[in-house]
Amino acid sequence: MKILAFESSCDETSCAVVEDGRQVLSDIISTQVPIHKKFGGVVPEIASRHHIEDVLPVAIEALEQAGCSWSDMDAIAVTQGPGLVGALLVGVAAAKAVAWAIDKPLIAVNHIEGHIFANLVQYPDLEPPFLSLVVSGGHTMLVVVRDYNHFEILGQTRDDAAGEAFDKVARVLGYPYPGGPHIDRLAKEGNSSAIHFPMGLSKGHNFDFSFSGLKSSVINYINTMKMKKEEIVAEDVAASFQKAVVDVLIEKAMEAVKVTGMKTIALAGGVAANSELRTRLEEECSKRGIRMCRPSLTLCTDNGAMIGCRAYYMAKAGEFADMSLNADPRLPF
Ligand code: KG4
Ligand code: ZN
Repeated sequence: MKILAFESSCDETSCAVVEDGRQVLSDIISTQVPIHKKFGGVVPEIASRHHIEDVLPVAIEALEQAGCSWSDMDAIAVTQGPGLVGALLVGVAAAKAVAWAIDKPLIAVNHIEGHIFANLVQYPDLEPPFLSLVVSGGHTMLVVVRDYNHFEILGQTRDDAAGEAFDKVARVLGYPYPGGPHIDRLAKEGNSSAIHFPMGLSKGHNFDFSFSGLKSSVINYINTMKMKKEEIVAEDVAASFQKAVVDVLIEKAMEAVKVTGMKTIALAGGVAANSELRTRLEEECSKRGIRMCRPSLTLCTDNGAMIGCRAYYMAKAGEFADMSLNADPRLPF
C-alpha cells in the first residue's frame, strides 16, 4: 500500500511516499526556519503563506523521487493537528483535493502519534508494546504504545513543553529560533553545575512535567546578572539549564519503565535531537537492559514519512476520514 503523506503543522512543508508503513520511497522537507529566524519564533501568518507556495511543488517532488504518479497512490494522509491552524489548513486542503481528484481514501493523522511512529520508520523490527518519551516544541509526554492503534498517556506537561523552554532560554541568551540546537552546542562547552536551576515536578509528582518554573528561573538569573552588571557565561547557563531538563526527563522515563515493565523506550519529537538527552538516556537504558530507540535527526523533526507510517496502521484498522475533514489545532492525543 502506497501512501502520499502531507505534513504542514508548523514551519516545515513536507510530503512523503511511504510503502506498507515502513518503506520510505521519498520524504521531501521544505523548511521555513531561515524565514522565521529573524522574528525569534514562527510567525503563523507567514508560515501559512509559505505552505501554500510550497505544498504542491513538494508533493510533486515526493512523487518524482519515489518514481510514482498520483494514480499510483492507494491513500492520502495528512496531519490534522495539533499545530498552527492556518498551517494545518493548507495540508488538509491539499490532501482533500488530491484524495478527491484520484478517488482514494483520506487518512487524518495526529501529529504527536506521527512523531512516535518515526521510530517505526527508523527501526523496521520495532513493534508495540513500547514506552515513548515525546519531547517536541509543543508537547512533552510519556506514552505507552500498547498496540499500533492503542495509546495510554502516563503523564504530560502541565505548562510549557521542553522545546518551548529551550527556545525561550536561547532567545534570552540572544540566539535565534529554533534555540534547542544552540543550547545543545553551548552546553558542550559549559559547566552544568555552575548554576543551580530547579528541576520542575521532580520525584513524587507522578509522570507530569512542568518547565515554566525552570524557564522563569533562568530568565530571572539572566536579568539579575545584567542588573548587577556581572558577566553571564552563556555556556554555563546553557549547560545548567539543559541538565535540569534532561535530569527530570530521564528520572521520569526510568520510573515509567519500572512501573510499566516495558523493555523498550522510543524517543520522539524535535528535542529528541538533543545530544545530552540521547547519550544519557542510552546510558541509563543500557544499565537496565532496556532497548532505546531514537529516530535519525531528520526523522526527529517534522516530516511527512512519520505521518505516512502512522497512516498505514490507521488504514489497516479502517480508520479513514471523509471530505468533511477539518484542521484541528488542539487535536487531542
Ligand atoms: O517536533 P518539532 O520539530 O516541532 C513540534 O512538533 O513542536 O520540535 C521542534 C523543537 C524546537 O523547540 C527546537 O528548539 C527543538 O525541537 N530542538 C532541540 C534540538 N533540536 C531541535 N532541542 C534541544 N536540543 C536540540 N538539539
Ligand atoms: Zn512536530
